[in-house]
Amino acid sequence: MPYAPEHDEIPNPLRPGLRAESAPEPCAMVIFGGSGDLAHRKLVPALYNLALGAHLPAAFAVIGVSKTPYAHDEYAREMREAVGKYSRTRPVDPEVWQDFASGIRYVAGSFDDADTFARLRSQLEEVDRSRATRRNRLYYFATPPSVFPVLLRQLKDAGLVRPPGESGFTRVVIEKPFGRDLASARALNRLVLSTCDERQVFRIDHYLGKETVQNILVLRFGNSIFEPIWNRRYVDHVEITAGEELGIEGRGRYYEEAGVLRDMIQNHVQQLVCFCAMEPPVAFDADAVRDEKIKVLRAIEVFDTPEQVARNVVLGQYMAGSVAGADVPGYQQEKDVAQRSRTPTFVAARLNIRSWRWDGVPFYVRSGKRLPKRATEIAIHFRRIPHQLFDEGATQPNVLIIRVQPQEGIALRFSAKVPGERYRPRIVSMDFRYGTTFGAGTPEAYERLLLDALRGDQTLFTRADEVEAAWKIVGSILKVTESAEFPPPHPYTAGTWGPVAADELLARDGRAWRRL
Ligand SMILES: NC(=O)c1ccc[n+]([C@@H]2O[C@H](COP(=O)([O-])OP(=O)(O)OC[C@H]3O[C@@H](n4cnc5c(N)ncnc54)[C@H](OP(=O)(O)O)[C@@H]3O)[C@@H](O)[C@H]2O)c1
Repeated sequence: MPYAPEHDEIPNPLRPGLRAESAPEPCAMVIFGGSGDLAHRKLVPALYNLALGAHLPAAFAVIGVSKTPYAHDEYAREMREAVGKYSRTRPVDPEVWQDFASGIRYVAGSFDDADTFARLRSQLEEVDRSRATRRNRLYYFATPPSVFPVLLRQLKDAGLVRPPGESGFTRVVIEKPFGRDLASARALNRLVLSTCDERQVFRIDHYLGKETVQNILVLRFGNSIFEPIWNRRYVDHVEITAGEELGIEGRGRYYEEAGVLRDMIQNHVQQLVCFCAMEPPVAFDADAVRDEKIKVLRAIEVFDTPEQVARNVVLGQYMAGSVAGADVPGYQQEKDVAQRSRTPTFVAARLNIRSWRWDGVPFYVRSGKRLPKRATEIAIHFRRIPHQLFDEGATQPNVLIIRVQPQEGIALRFSAKVPGERYRPRIVSMDFRYGTTFGAGTPEAYERLLLDALRGDQTLFTRADEVEAAWKIVGSILKVTESAEFPPPHPYTAGTWGPVAADELLARDGRAWRRL
C-alpha cells in the first residue's frame, strides 16, 4: 500500500472522507518580512505545497508585509516565481496556484510606522469579508530579530492581538534566533508574554519539523525493544553530529554575531539531545512532551568556569582548504568577516546529563561549517560485551544510527558470523531508509510546522521556559569563550572534521568520533 503522509488525514471538500478533527480553521496568515529570503525560499513554497496537498483551509489568505513596495498582483507574481524556483514539487500546478494566489495580498510599509498597522488592519478586515477568514490570525515574524519588539508593540497598539478565548484566534510564530543569550531571551520572553498568552506563541526551530527528528519519538516510544536498553546500563555514549559542507554563504554579518554555538547548538543540537534523552511523556501533547524536554535541559551540567569549558568544549574556525574537490577560502577571508575574528565555526563538546538514566554517559556533540560533508546523525553506542568468546577478531559494540539528513533513516550495526567453518565475527548493518520504504515526497519541515501552527498544535514549538533553559547551557559557555582571556578557536582546514583537539576530546575518554 502506498505511504500516505499524516497531512492526508486532513479533510477538504476535494477529498471527502478524510478526518475532520485535524482540519485547520479558516485563517489569514500575515508574513512580516514578506519580501525577504525566508518568505521566498521556504514559507510561500511550503504554503503552496500545503495547498497542493489540499491541506489548507478552504478559507485562507496570505498577507505579506515589508518595506519594499509591491501591488497585490505584483507580489503574487513574485511569489509565483519563488515557488517555481524553490518548491519541492515542480512544475507549479496552474490551477492550484491560481486558487492559492487569489488569497495573496500585500501591505507595504515600515514596521516603525503605526500607519502600516492601520493599513494591515483594513486589509485583514477585507479578507475577513472576501475570504471568510473569520478574524483568525497567524502572524509570522520572518524578520531580523531586532524588529521583533517593534512588531509586538505595534500589533498590540493597533489592537491586532486578541486574547485566547475571544472569537477569532491570534497566534504568533517567531523565527530563530530567540535572543542571543539568557538575558536577552528572558527580556524577549517578557515582551512576548506582555502581548500574548503563551498558548498563542509558536517559537520555531525548523529542525523539529523534520520527519527524522519526529521519528526519534516513535522509535523510542512506539517500540517496546529500545526503551529497556535506553539508559546508562546499556548505553556507553551518544554521539551527535550536525555537519555542513557549506561555509557562511555570504552571511558574514549574521554569522559574526552568531557563531556555531548560537547558530546550531542552542537550538537544533540541543533539541536532538532532548529527544534522545527525555523520559517518556505521560501523553503525546504539547505540554507533556515539552515538560520532559525541559527536564533534560535542566539536567545538563552547566560549564561556567574556564577550566570546565576547556575540559569539555573545543572550538574551531576553518582556514582555506578544499571541499568536494573545490578550493574554498578561510573564514577570515569571507565577506563581512573581521580579519582577526574569533567567531567559532566549529564546536565539539561533551555534555553530561546528571540524571538517574544518563549519569556517566557522555553525550558528545559536534557541529561545524566546511566539514567534508553535510551530515546530521545521532549514534547511540552500546556497551561492549563483557567477555569475548571468539578468537578470530573481536566483536564490535552495537551502534544504532539515526540519520537525520541526508539519506534519512535508521541503521543498527551488529556482529554477524562470516560464512565459513570458523567463528569469525564481522560488523554488519540493518538499514531502514525513508526514501526506499515510504517513497519520495516527504513534506518539508516548514510545511509540517506551518500546518501545526494553523491547527494550534504547539508540540513541535519551543516554550518560554524551554528556550531559557537552553540558553542557560550555551550562554554560560559563551560567557567564558567570548572573554578576551579565553584562547581563540583552534584553526582547522576546510574539508576536514575540525581541529585535532576535537579528536583529543574523545581520545582522552578512550573513544573516537565515528567516521562519516
Ligand atoms: N533565510 C533563511 O533561510 C532562514 C532560515 C532560518 C531562519 N531564518 C530567520 O528568518 C528571519 C528572516 O530571515 P530572512 O533571511 O528572510 O531575512 P531577510 O531576507 O533579510 O528579510 C527581512 C525582511 O524583513 C523586512 N524588514 C526588516 N525590517 C523592517 C522594517 N523595519 N520595516 C518593514 N520591513 C522590515 C524586510 O523588508 P524589506 O527588505 O522590504 O525592507 C524583509 O522582508 C530571521 O530571523 C532569520 O534568522 C531565516
